[in-house]
Amino acid sequence: MKKVLFVCLGNICRSPSAEGIFQGLVDQANLSKEIKVDSAGTSSWHIGDPADTRMRATAKERGYDLTSRARSFGKKDFKDFDYILAMDETNYKDIVKLARSPEDEAKVELMTDYCESHTDTYVPDPYYGGADGFHYVIDLLEDATSSLLKKVKSDIDEAH
Ligand code: 4NP
Repeated sequence: MKKVLFVCLGNICRSPSAEGIFQGLVDQANLSKEIKVDSAGTSSWHIGDPADTRMRATAKERGYDLTSRARSFGKKDFKDFDYILAMDETNYKDIVKLARSPEDEAKVELMTDYCESHTDTYVPDPYYGGADGFHYVIDLLEDATSSLLKKVKSDIDEAH
């Protein structure tokens, strides 16, 4: 079993979208028993909230149902997850600050490092912008999640 955690600031826009899109790929690949997916935020601002209404509407248009509730990232997540994907450099730094060992730190990666057809170095926060920003989040995440799944699958195969 491999466990994947997506992390952004509020856990109401980018990381719930990453969770929903990646979970869809995992389900399609019949790997839901082998890959567990979750998301969290580095802030505690929106704990318990559903994903942002605009993000959910955009995701729905693109074929994804976002059902997660916000929670905040904590030290325990290093123990519980194998891959921790940060949406931007600030998220990355805030996560790494809580790492207790080099092994913890090595689990943290930038989501955009998995993009194959975009050269962006972070997933831009869509919260204060217009509708285009929400669509762009999905564009980047569709790109990154498909190669992330290949990586996780190859790690599972190697372990067998
Ligand atoms: P997220 O977006 O980190 O992608 O969930 C944000 C959500 C809320 C806020 C900022 C970013 N906020 O300032 O409340």
